[in-house]
Amino acid sequence: MPQLLHIDSSADVNTSVSRALTGLFAETWRGLGDDHTVVRRDLHREPLPHLTDAGLHYAARLRVDGEAPDAAAEKLQAELIAEVAAADVVVIGAPMYNWSLPSTLKAWIDYIHVLGTTVPFDNPDRPFAGKPVVIVSSRGNTYAPGTPGEGTDHTVLPLQQVLGVSLGMAVEVVTAELTLADRLAPLAPLAGQAKESRSAAEESVRTLAIELGSRA
Ligand SMILES: Cc1cc2nc3c(=O)[nH]c(=O)nc-3n(C[C@H](O)[C@H](O)[C@H](O)COP(=O)(O)O)c2cc1C
Repeated sequence: MPQLLHIDSSADVNTSVSRALTGLFAETWRGLGDDHTVVRRDLHREPLPHLTDAGLHYAARLRVDGEAPDAAAEKLQAELIAEVAAADVVVIGAPMYNWSLPSTLKAWIDYIHVLGTTVPFDNPDRPFAGKPVVIVSSRGNTYAPGTPGEGTDHTVLPLQQVLGVSLGMAVEVVTAELTLADRLAPLAPLAGQAKESRSAAEESVRTLAIELGSRA
């Protein structure tokens, strides 16, 4: 049973571009057959608490005196890690908020990136290595090469670092930019570019869902 873990973090539940794109991914995935299941985690509608104890960043055996996460936090962490472990593919909606990622998504990252559990430390285990993860990035302005915004997108880079470099997952990035072109007058002249970016993102999402879903 190929399983998709579908994660959203946009605080916009009506017109969100990242939600539309992750939704299209999930719909395409389901379209591959009744056996293609989807598990949903909406980090905005059901936000995770911030880490309650720094000890949660380490496997229990690596904790030092004074690091004593409570049982509920440990249970939640185990549940979040098991959810990723059970998925064949993960898709994550990652809007740009103040040049960075939403705090709701960062909280999820802080729970699942655990030294000695999901990241090798005193052990070689890397349980998520090779697992495909599609990051769907939506951003109001343009950050394309040659624009003033180039190099200032701090949304995708930390996700690539944690999920790809550290956890070893196979990261794909799909970006829709200039999403504010129809809302902010100074960006209005770029409306054509915004439309092209959205269409290209939709095409990429469909292609990736079919490709990854057929392989799973
Ligand atoms: C709290 C907040 C902060 C934002 N910060 C930025 C920003 O730094 N740069 C930018 O280009 N757009 C910014 N935007 C615009 C969003 O990136 C844009 O609306 C994007 O489409 C949001 O994703 P969504 O459509 O999935 O909700 C911000 C929007 C919000 C709500």
